[in-house]
Amino acid sequence: MLDTVDSTMAEAARRAASGLAGPTWIMAHEQTSGRGRRGRDWTSEQGNLAATLVYRPEATPAEAARRSFLASVALFEALAIHVDRTRLSLKWPNDVLLDGGKVAGILLESAGQGPFVDWLAIGIGVNLAVRPDGVRDAAFPPIAVADNGGPLVDPEEFLTHLADAFATEEGKLDAFGFGRIREDWLRHAARLGEVITARTGSEEVTGVFETVDEAGNLMLKTPKGLRAISAADVFF
Ligand code: BTN
Repeated sequence: MLDTVDSTMAEAARRAASGLAGPTWIMAHEQTSGRGRRGRDWTSEQGNLAATLVYRPEATPAEAARRSFLASVALFEALAIHVDRTRLSLKWPNDVLLDGGKVAGILLESAGQGPFVDWLAIGIGVNLAVRPDGVRDAAFPPIAVADNGGPLVDPEEFLTHLADAFATEEGKLDAFGFGRIREDWLRHAARLGEVITARTGSEEVTGVFETVDEAGNLMLKTPKGLRAISAADVFF
């Protein structure tokens, strides 16, 4: 457990570069340069969870990107220990919503030259105690678990539940393949059937979110037909 760090993602990269052995969770009470998806900042207040799992999966970049679905499902299950699961849903690409507001986000980073990633870091931020100021996306205003009389969950305790849930989902991936993770993700997904805009590289594609296919692509029905948006494009 770190007291203050620039970002648990940066710390994960440093540890991977200096010869990380087994899977490691890195957690900090405070981050001075927390990062979010798409180059945004992530404010992590004391009392919230800021943690990164870094490991060396035997996975191509596309397979590694699919871990994002696994992480979302694990995060959903860990949160469901503390709040009624009917209040939770998953939003593409990998946010968790509580009462329709953003309660948690996931960021994937990886490195490697060969066909397999050298390491994968899965960063997870959860607004346990404090709802951050500022609304990034008016449709999904930030919310904290403790809001509206919710429980005040200790971040270290939450990380134990998250690590367990993650291990359970990894076990399902090993035993049943990505199909099972996909099914679980789709069962919890909030936005199927909605019109969404996905960014892939520099291109923006707008369409009706139909499903996630067996390779982990986001399938959008657009006026020009069905478009597959690669998980690897969206998540890294
Ligand atoms: C997002 O929704 O944009 C993803 C947010 C991810 C935030 C977490 S907090 C722990 C880890 N360290 C970081 O700097 N970012 C991730």
